[in-house]
Amino acid sequence: MRHATTNRRLTRRLALLLPLLATICAATESVPLASGMVVSDHWLASEAGRDVLAAGGNAVDAAIATGLALAVTHPSAGNIGGGGFMIIRFPNGTATAIDFRETAPMAAHADMWLDDDGEYWRQVHHYSHKAVGVPGTVAGFDKAHQLYGVAQWPTLLAPAIDLAEEGFSLSERLANSLAGFVGRFPHYPATVAQFSRDGLPLAMGDTLRQPDLGGSLRRIQAGRRDGFYRGPTALLLVAEMTRGGGLLQMVDLERYEARERTPIRGSYHGYEIIGMPPPSSGGVAVVTMLNILAGYDLAAMGHNTPGYIHHLAEAMRRAFRDRARWLADTDVVDVPLHMLTSQEHAAHLRQDLDSRSASVSAPGDLTLPYESPETTHYSVVDSDGMAVAVTYTLEAAYGSGIVVPGAGFLLNNQMGDFNAVRGHTDEFGLIGTEPNLARPSQRMLSSMSPTILAKDGHLVAVTGSPGGRTIINTVLQVLLNLIDFDMGIEAAVAAARVHHQWLPDRLRLEAERFDSGTVAALQDMGHMVQAAGRQGLAHSIGIDPDTGARVGAADPRNADAGARGD
Ligand code: DON
Repeated sequence: MRHATTNRRLTRRLALLLPLLATICAATESVPLASGMVVSDHWLASEAGRDVLAAGGNAVDAAIATGLALAVTHPSAGNIGGGGFMIIRFPNGTATAIDFRETAPMAAHADMWLDDDGEYWRQVHHYSHKAVGVPGTVAGFDKAHQLYGVAQWPTLLAPAIDLAEEGFSLSERLANSLAGFVGRFPHYPATVAQFSRDGLPLAMGDTLRQPDLGGSLRRIQAGRRDGFYRGPTALLLVAEMTRGGGLLQMVDLERYEARERTPIRGSYHGYEIIGMPPPSSGGVAVVTMLNILAGYDLAAMGHNTPGYIHHLAEAMRRAFRDRARWLADTDVVDVPLHMLTSQEHAAHLRQDLDSRSASVSAPGDLTLPYESPETTHYSVVDSDGMAVAVTYTLEAAYGSGIVVPGAGFLLNNQMGDFNAVRGHTDEFGLIGTEPNLARPSQRMLSSMSPTILAKDGHLVAVTGSPGGRTIINTVLQVLLNLIDFDMGIEAAVAAARVHHQWLPDRLRLEAERFDSGTVAALQDMGHMVQAAGRQGLAHSIGIDPDTGARVGAADPRNADAGARGD
């Protein structure tokens, strides 16, 4: 551990001196069999996880340390005030899932997004104290560690505490992001104080110190989950809720529980897919799409050809229709998981799939609620081959924008993932189906899709992504690139991506990565093609089938990301 601490100090000094190092170090790193690898959205967080592996921790320990460090270095999505999901595959091939999704407070109800006149109030649904769900991250990390960790809990907090209290140098990307964010929340003084210098933007190379966050992390270090859900941190959180008219109370914090769940399993061309079950829609949707696509020879179509993209879009359209119709928290509503992931269902969905022309997302179909594209995914493999995929989020970039005064962490706005208005569905994007309405203690539906791929009992890859509903399709394409197109993990992650989510009926292509001939051919088939920004950040690890080497692939779409082997 002494070695790890020295490493951390050296790293921090380098970080203070060389802000551009991040750009240089992002991308791909490979280490031999019997070594570990961490790939995350911030290289300092990857190094926190790497140091835990070097000190004898396993992949679960490293995932916890990485997640806590991201709560400091990647504040738009890394968090202790949000929630998410962890998939763990053990070296013997068994797997489990930890669900630390936020829950609705006890006082929540389906009509809570209506104003006094019964009109939908979008601001309250997405950006208010009422949009804050009960945070799950600390309980999730505590549970994962209790069940599967081997390192001493306090050591997992140490890197994050160091980064919060001593600070780290801002990259250009983060400085720009913070400047834009702080300007949007002048009415939250604790937010302005934490992420600016007396209201003036921080610049690239400035040191960001977050002492209040360091204090909260120290309380978690000393008290585990009780250091967050009880005592001073909980009191500060509830005080802010009371001040701002939120629903979350002490009883909600005390009752919050992370849950261990059985992963969704699928198989595709001999590969085994291990995905997240509800309250995520991710595992089900990815498996449904793979089942549909197993009926076609995608490799023969060619990667990202019009015919290939057309089949992807049609599979996506159908899986997202199922998502809107069925998926929600299975602790509260019945979801026919077996039916949705069955080959029979896929065969049924293929029946009206025309290989030459686009279907239409039918009138009377439902449109989907707003979701922001901000979340973070990271992947870990340890020297024994234990693999961990974590996707967690505050929902929007920087969540609700509310820093808890005195506690230094941002609160999520995850309640926005519940449906808006009971029974009301319209072309502007509101959906009112029953399963995903807000109810006390229900978990809101998610798209987050941490995923592990295996074959013949061997680990093949660990992947996942941010990006709201695009997450599901980003993961699908990373898997297809690996399986159907035999790409290495670096190429599979870098390749251009497409997205269709049933409604609105648009086929989104990453801008400037598809030629005009491809766009024209898709339009000729009847697709409404739309140019979109970068899709996803799929920080992944692939295992070289010949040597067992762990190849960490940081998605090149984020220059701050980093792959670190031990
Ligand atoms: O849980 C969900 O699916 C969304 N709240 C995630 C939001 C998201 O991915 C934003 N990402 N970049």
